[in-house]
Amino acid sequence: MSVMTRADHLTFLRRAIRRPDLLATPFVTGPRLARDIAKVIPRGSSSTVVELGAGTGAMSDPIRDRLAPDARHLAVEIDPDLVAHLRTSRPWLELVHGDALDFTTILDDAGIGTVDVVICSLPWALFPAAQRRALLRDISGRLAPDGAFSTITTWMALPGRVRDLRGALGDVFDEVVETATVWLNPPPARLFVCRRPLVPPSS
Ligand SMILES: C[S@@+](CC[C@H](N)C(=O)[O-])C[C@H]1O[C@@H](n2cnc3c(N)ncnc32)[C@H](O)[C@@H]1O
Repeated sequence: MSVMTRADHLTFLRRAIRRPDLLATPFVTGPRLARDIAKVIPRGSSSTVVELGAGTGAMSDPIRDRLAPDARHLAVEIDPDLVAHLRTSRPWLELVHGDALDFTTILDDAGIGTVDVVICSLPWALFPAAQRRALLRDISGRLAPDGAFSTITTWMALPGRVRDLRGALGDVFDEVVETATVWLNPPPARLFVCRRPLVPPSS
């Protein structure tokens, strides 16, 4: 089992100070919540997993822990310093330096058709509503029928934005399960697990 290092935390904090518009929080996701979010992946599975907003790897490690050696784990991160950190600290990670909003192109370029699991810790509240909805539509349209999409929102998100996210998730997934707030995570956060994509694959 991997553990976040001091360098992981410090790198994240440094980038959060420089780019609060991208990172949204000075804290990496806590180990308990990160493990919980990864549990949508069946243990030992050979799935194709896409991770959006990898940061310094807080979720990458527990995702890896659940995957079989022949699984595929593609991570997307927009911040160049975080990408450089991940390339050094987690050389095993298949990493794309890019914008998660280009989800479809990134998957096409990587030769990924259908995805089994998408795990996301993007700062949803900072995205304009139209971009948020477009990305969720793209994700729903690429997920396998029995696939899962798991994401978090933190307390730092305004209630109106969280309401909009909840509505947007309900528009593109048949099942949206929301956990209670995990108070021990800094900052407190909740998890959404979504199944049965409603967007047809070709649209
Ligand atoms: C709240 S942090 C989460 C980081 C890490 N996954 C964790 O749980 O600690 C959000 C991450 O999403 C990245 N990010 C923000 N906007 C992005 C975008 N449009 N495309 C890809 N990554 C993005 C940020 O650079 C940051 O690493």
